[in-house]
Amino acid sequence: MYRPLIDKHNRKISSVRISLTDRCNFRCKYCMPDGTIDWTPKKNILTFEELTRLVDLFYKSSIRKFRLTGGEPTIRHNFEIFCETISKKYPDIELSMTTNGHKLKEIAERLKEVGISRLNVSLDIFDRDKFNNITQREYYDDILVGIDMAASIGIKVKINAVSMKTFNDDKVSLNKFIEYSANTGIEIRFIELMPFTGNDWSADKYLSSEDLRTAFNRIEPLEEIDKDSPSQTSRVFIGKSGAKIGFISSVSESFCESCDRIRITADGNLRPCLHANKEYSLRDLMRSGASDEELLNVIRDGLNEKWASHPDFLELQYLPPMSDREMIRIGG
Ligand code: 5AD
Ligand code: SF4
Repeated sequence: MYRPLIDKHNRKISSVRISLTDRCNFRCKYCMPDGTIDWTPKKNILTFEELTRLVDLFYKSSIRKFRLTGGEPTIRHNFEIFCETISKKYPDIELSMTTNGHKLKEIAERLKEVGISRLNVSLDIFDRDKFNNITQREYYDDILVGIDMAASIGIKVKINAVSMKTFNDDKVSLNKFIEYSANTGIEIRFIELMPFTGNDWSADKYLSSEDLRTAFNRIEPLEEIDKDSPSQTSRVFIGKSGAKIGFISSVSESFCESCDRIRITADGNLRPCLHANKEYSLRDLMRSGASDEELLNVIRDGLNEKWASHPDFLELQYLPPMSDREMIRIGG
């Protein structure tokens, strides 16, 4: 066992987000840059052996929560085998995944078998045409069926929706969110639109959680419920209908204070903060024969780069660009 990972602001790291690939088969307009994308060559992506080594290290450092992200994690060949390896080895970890859900209806059972207990599925609007338009793909119906299936076999599913002005904040859209959540018991969490390289962010599209909540309240008054844990990034509300609506104010508020997470990019960099551009290549270290101790030293140094809180993005007016990587290359 190793010492737990604690950063210089005395925050204990208890959760790791691992990006399995930077590739995605969707082209969500708020996420992807236009035009052709230079995907990371395969040889630069961490192998499952390397990923397992990192999970070992983190496990031994008392981390029990692992979330697989991308790009779209389910398009990485044989990702299930990696899930199975780590969840068999460490039955007490919580293994979750963020997915666009495009093949959920085929793989839900398999995901459960290989140890995935929680899924966040991205679905920005309950409207086939608008959804297919923003993702630039045609998977709306498949995703709905997939979510249903996953939930029915006991996977805890939440829906992530990026809130955008004039896209999903009108009365019809909000009613559909409420109705869906009330009928299924599935929580819907709205994420404020964040500016990333290539995603064409603009203040015209940005909608704060507060404004969105006000819009919801006009339809159905929402009452806040207690957080499951202090590091929970969302504030969750419940309406009379039973609808559970969460808000992740990644732009308008800072939840850095209770941040307990780090990220590993698909190409093997430790990214201590989503919004800070500093990264450390664990891949290069591993490939040059570094010992666990050496890796941990770099990880500990990296943790000291975690910010106490991030700068006020709105005040900065998003200039200069807040990230040097597209969202897709960081991992959601
Ligand atoms: N702002 C907020 N959330 C985003 N996501 C992708 N791009 C952005 C952005 N610019 C979300 C996806 C998914 C998660 C991985 O990140 O919708 O739910
Ligand atoms: Fe793919 Fe998710 Fe980005 Fe959409 S938001 S393009 S599904 S990574």
